[in-house]
Amino acid sequence: MLSRSVLRSLTHSSRLFSTSAARQQKVAVLGAGGGIGQPLSLLLKLDPYVTSLSLYDIRGAPGVAADVSHIDTASEVTGYPADKLDEALEGVKVVVIPAGVPRKMTRDDLFNTNASIVRDLAAAIGRVSPEAHILVISNPVNSTVPIVSAVLEKAGVYDPRRVFGVTTLDVVRAARFLSQITGSNPQDTVVPVVGGHSGATIVPLLSQTEQGKSLTGEAYEKLIHRIQFGGDEVVKAKDGAGSATLSMAYAGARFTNALLRGLAGEKGIVTPTFVKSPLFADKGIDFFSSPIELGPNGVEKVHPLGPLSPSEEKLLAACLPDLKKNIEKGKAFVAQS
Ligand code: NAD
Ligand code: LMR
Repeated sequence: MLSRSVLRSLTHSSRLFSTSAARQQKVAVLGAGGGIGQPLSLLLKLDPYVTSLSLYDIRGAPGVAADVSHIDTASEVTGYPADKLDEALEGVKVVVIPAGVPRKMTRDDLFNTNASIVRDLAAAIGRVSPEAHILVISNPVNSTVPIVSAVLEKAGVYDPRRVFGVTTLDVVRAARFLSQITGSNPQDTVVPVVGGHSGATIVPLLSQTEQGKSLTGEAYEKLIHRIQFGGDEVVKAKDGAGSATLSMAYAGARFTNALLRGLAGEKGIVTPTFVKSPLFADKGIDFFSSPIELGPNGVEKVHPLGPLSPSEEKLLAACLPDLKKNIEKGKAFVAQS
């Protein structure tokens, strides 16, 4: 079981746009014209920690920026067209990346297209704003985070405390789906979800939640499956037109706010995110999502998983080999580039 203080902070981080004393920051969205990028830009315009918003896309970012800029919050918004990536990255502290194609089948299908998009954006960040914190939404996250990390490493500017895979949507779904079964308030239903972000690599730790720990049998199996394959529900319902965009924008804005609060010095911000991690490095898996404490330098502390139930041990055993392959695929892509 995670310690009481970690669980309390996970609860706290489940609210969008919590504020305390704000030290505001410049934030860029790369892929701001897309299905996630547009609502994410809208939500970031509402975040009191964002002082300046830099919106970039190969299509449509100036239009999104003009639109969002009319909202009556204090932050400045600028849109940048395809040939102005370097300008978009000037002076940014946080870069959120939802650029790339959404899937039609498995997240791994996206690899070929998104790997090069993410690689090239990471190279630009390494060159123009090497101290920025990078929040990767583009799929497959299990591979795109190792790609971003390897590109920065090649450029000699890699700091593992500043590269994050955004897995918040899994946490959001787990809270919502569990609350639908138990009748609890989803905002107070805190489920640590660890591992990676696709199918069997998504490992919800229901034994560590007040509301979920007594769930067993078919109800438990069904809920685990729904959390692991929640993305499929949306892909099917959109009938080939794309994947989750609105819930993802919410999740991305929530994780960005958590990071900004950590950067501003707020204590006790803990949330799962996919980062360079020592937890399974001895098994050759050097990226993993577990509850991470965020602070002025980004990752402050990688929390261990805590005791797992026998069912969770099985989920973890299924996660690790898939995750390892996904990470290796990302690394190999950069090595061959
Ligand atoms: P979308 O096609 O609606 O938008 C993607 C945007 O990226 C487009 O506007 C496109 O012009 C832009 N783009 C393409 N190449 C670019 C480049 N080189 N530089 C800047 N912008 C570029 O797709 P979407 O639905 O917004 O999804 C985006 C990505 O997010 C997909 O890979 C999807 O799988 C992923 N996703 C991740 C999660 C998660 O939980 N991490 C959840 C949902 C979707
Ligand atoms: C999700 O979890 O909804 C995203 O990763 C998009 C997808 O491809 O399922």
